[in-house]
Amino acid sequence: MEDLLGVNIHPSASMDGWRDRFLDAISKGFVPPIFLYQGPRSASLWERLHVQYASASQDRTAEALYRRLFEWLETVLGSGSVELVSLGCGLAEKEGQWFEVSGKRRIEVQLLDGSFELVAEAKRRRVHPGFHGEVGATVADLTSPSLWRDLARYRAGCPVIYTLFGMLPTLAPEFLIPRIGPLLREGDWLLLDANLIPDSPEYDGTVPPRIVSQYDNPETREWLLASLAELGIYSNAGSLAFHAQGSLHRSEVPRIVASFAFNQTVTVGLFGKSIGFSKERSLRVFRSNRYSVPLLTMMLEQQGIRVVHVLTSETGEDGLLVCRSSPTASLPGGG
Ligand SMILES: C[S@@+](CC[C@H](N)C(=O)[O-])C[C@H]1O[C@@H](n2cnc3c(N)ncnc32)[C@H](O)[C@@H]1O
Repeated sequence: MEDLLGVNIHPSASMDGWRDRFLDAISKGFVPPIFLYQGPRSASLWERLHVQYASASQDRTAEALYRRLFEWLETVLGSGSVELVSLGCGLAEKEGQWFEVSGKRRIEVQLLDGSFELVAEAKRRRVHPGFHGEVGATVADLTSPSLWRDLARYRAGCPVIYTLFGMLPTLAPEFLIPRIGPLLREGDWLLLDANLIPDSPEYDGTVPPRIVSQYDNPETREWLLASLAELGIYSNAGSLAFHAQGSLHRSEVPRIVASFAFNQTVTVGLFGKSIGFSKERSLRVFRSNRYSVPLLTMMLEQQGIRVVHVLTSETGEDGLLVCRSSPTASLPGGG
């Protein structure tokens, strides 16, 4: 069924491709992020912790940041229709703030996410009486190169505003960042958010323990352990620990990682394969990348993406970057 409850399924979400990418990730020692949001239980556990702990709900200045961004966008967009393509939309709440200030502007919305539950719910919530436009929803896997090729071929009859909210923390920067530039044509916009770490000479470039502890809470543990249980790995088979990795001064971006260390050998059946996790092995279950604004700007500009506007919250922990196209950007692998 191609169009279930008004939700399209992109070929990147087909079982064959998904199985191969999933098994590849597990063999490399990590649970693919998309898996943490799929299925009613995982999606609702994520929503609960998102409401409770997402920086916007912790920090009023971070919440106001999105409103400021969309108010600014309205001053530079000019009149006329636009298209919004939300990549990894989740519940599309941040984009929802735009619709509160967009007046009578017609906005065609394309919501895209790897979680059927989240994208279907985002579509349901975004269609409300004050909204002028149409909302489309698609389940797709942003780790599939074929999806990025299809996105880069996409032509809209009006400027496109791409949003990638919550995705720089989630997906591997070396995969994601080179794929963004080729989407942008003249007149298009890209809105990104990032979890920041301080950028000052006295700062040592690692993630402070205070920030790591924001992730180590009962709700996040329950969410991650529920996903492991879906795989047949139960909490008594080991322990989940949060720690910081990498540094601004080394080649890997700093990140917060949650890993499950096995205390016994566990064998699970996945997609018809038997996969063993030996005692003392660990599986990375979660990762959240952090950037400084100068580091992220450099990484984007290396891929031909121009950063034209930056907003940061008062705490300095949340940043929003507005980007435009550069004529030189092309897809990795010539796609
Ligand atoms: C941290 S949440 C961000 C959600 C929302 N954009 C926000 O900022 O509140 C990450 C989102 O990315 C989606 N996601 C993770 N991996 C994905 C993938 N490979 N392809 C598509 N979506 C993915 C998840 O389903 C989830 O909705």
